[in-house]
Amino acid sequence: MRFVILGDLHYSVDYLEDGQSEARDRIFRLFLEQVAETEPDLVFAIGDTTNRGRIEEMVGLDNIAKESGLNFIRVTGNHDCYVLPKNEIAPFFLGGRPSASETDVYTAFDVANTRFILLDTARDRDFSNYGGFVSDEQLAWLHQQIAEANANPLIQYVKVLGHHPIYNTTRRSTETMLYIANSDAVKEAFANLDKSKQGFYYCGHNHCHSLYGPDDNGWHHIQTADPLDCESYRLIIVEDSRIDVSVINFDLSLPENRNAFETARTSIPQGFTAQDFQKVYGEEHEHNLVVELALK
Ligand SMILES: [Fe+2]
Repeated sequence: MRFVILGDLHYSVDYLEDGQSEARDRIFRLFLEQVAETEPDLVFAIGDTTNRGRIEEMVGLDNIAKESGLNFIRVTGNHDCYVLPKNEIAPFFLGGRPSASETDVYTAFDVANTRFILLDTARDRDFSNYGGFVSDEQLAWLHQQIAEANANPLIQYVKVLGHHPIYNTTRRSTETMLYIANSDAVKEAFANLDKSKQGFYYCGHNHCHSLYGPDDNGWHHIQTADPLDCESYRLIIVEDSRIDVSVINFDLSLPENRNAFETARTSIPQGFTAQDFQKVYGEEHEHNLVVELALK
């Protein structure tokens, strides 16, 4: 199985000048077409897929994804939850799967030897606090998901996806609001995973590529940067006893694509500030990871 993680996309409908929305669509079409060319089984967008959580943003990006033929699975980010209640945005998330909760947006499903657990770490319409939080109801559900994975001999890997990092793991995850406030409670659930299986936590939010682990519980943490800064995404190849994680660069070599990219990323009036590529792209040790599982 091969799957892709797209970092915070920040698709915006707030561009003010002629040509800027066209530049945005050119770039997102290029991004998603190039992802589709790698023929992934699943594509996850790790939150902040939209810049302000407006329905027009979700529909606009979904239309481009459909043109590219991608199976596009969103998890929630803080930006996605700024203006609408979660039950109104829920149909655009989790790849159309129903949420396991009436108030938050989370689910789990199995593909071959892997259990995917999609968390909702975003707060509900809270502009003043863009940090992460996992509800008590969701924590109890997470414990249950891990217990079910432990009881299922077919499951080798548990892959949890949430927008915000666990505190003090990947780059910048100790800075204000750049982590899940109740990270210790989430880690308590991770600690219950049977040691014969391998746990991974995938996050975004901090707009830089980073790897951390294995942590005290043997889990690896994989943070994916936003494509509008880092011109790249992650590809994960899952085999029976081996996981390959890498960073794949988008091809922006045509001058008209490079120009559109610069326009799209520097013209969003609020909610996204373009960063210097060299500062956030990271080094090879923050990109590539191979985890080999000892077969029983
Ligand atoms: Fe975020």
